[in-house]
Amino acid sequence: ATPLRLALIGLGTVGSGVLRILHDTAGRDARLGTVQVVGVAVRDLERPRDLPVLPPLTDDPFSLVRDPEVDVVAEVMGGVDLPYRLLTAALKAGKHVITANKALLARHGQELFALARAQNRQLRYEAAVGGGIPLIQPLEQCLGANRIHSVTAIINGTTNYILTQMATRQMAYTQALAEAQALGYAEADPAADVEGADAQEKLTILASIAFRIPLPPLEAIYREGITAIDLPDVINAQQLGFGIKLLALAERCPDGRLDLRVHPTLVPVDHPLSRVDGAYNAVLIEAEPVGSIMFFGPGAGGGPTASAVISDLINILADRPAGPTPADFAQPPPGYLSIDEVQT
Ligand code: NAP
Ligand code: HSE
Repeated sequence: ATPLRLALIGLGTVGSGVLRILHDTAGRDARLGTVQVVGVAVRDLERPRDLPVLPPLTDDPFSLVRDPEVDVVAEVMGGVDLPYRLLTAALKAGKHVITANKALLARHGQELFALARAQNRQLRYEAAVGGGIPLIQPLEQCLGANRIHSVTAIINGTTNYILTQMATRQMAYTQALAEAQALGYAEADPAADVEGADAQEKLTILASIAFRIPLPPLEAIYREGITAIDLPDVINAQQLGFGIKLLALAERCPDGRLDLRVHPTLVPVDHPLSRVDGAYNAVLIEAEPVGSIMFFGPGAGGGPTASAVISDLINILADRPAGPTPADFAQPPPGYLSIDEVQT
């Protein structure tokens, strides 16, 4: 088979997981054996890397996205402006693109998906929401027969880990956050996790696919994180029969508008979402005609997230068409989103 030549941008928690999978493909999809990693972009060329095999490293990611030898660019670096320029250049150079970067897609996704369509290239992003849970492709394709009424989700592993440690081990918030960082769950700046921004970015992506609309602007999503929650709040909630969860919600209102919110919520202990612990995520969907569906699994961490990146690679290797993507959806009527400033 013709080898597929991959450039990896980023070799941290997720990038290292991707290389580990590609190093040992035994027992996995046979097509992965044809992948050649032609180069990896990092920031610090001197940093020790604990990996079985190290492809050539560069600190110039543009050299990889413009390399005619590269077929697919996988961005697992993070940030917004630099990956935006890199992925734009990659698509313009005719590469397929994979990204785990929800911060990028929430801000520039509409333009990038349109560019991918214009270039007849794929822009895949299974790892951007829900870590290792197969979510994007099932929503795009397997639930395509449905009208989705609501999405109720735990989609930030770091905050769910913190809240779980506070509830089960009476651990202080700061110590639980430090553990989540050490385990590779948190963003480079964990403020994005604990202030709800990461969940907000993921919710715009979920809302787009679920409701078949272009990516709603972030300002359309009410956001409140978990920074004001302390141990007594968690213990008091437990005594009343509730757990505290950072939920991301997208609901069709009876008047037809869409309500999008991220905030801590009291969840009754017998609710399925209250049993989602640690860095696990869950996405509960109410849809017609299928009914209730819940996706559940590891929402952060190197191995699970790399699993999702590789699933995108397998789809590209299989030449499976992506989408539909946010660039394929028609604009909803004015006033569809709830927040006033978005409508001005
Ligand atoms: P990370 O551990 O901080 O790794 C970032 C990597 O990018 C590092 O290898 C770093 O190089 C490299 N990098 C940073 N700036 C660079 C630059 N200017 N040029 C070249 N390389 C650069 O991050 P991560 O946790 O793997 O996350 C990566 C992406 O995946 C983010 O978009 C994140 O939101 C997303 N994601 C992460 C998870 C997770 O659980 N961690 C889950 C889902 C999605 P050095 O190694 O030299 O520092
Ligand atoms: N920081 C993110 C989280 C990584 O904790 O959920 C997965 O997107």
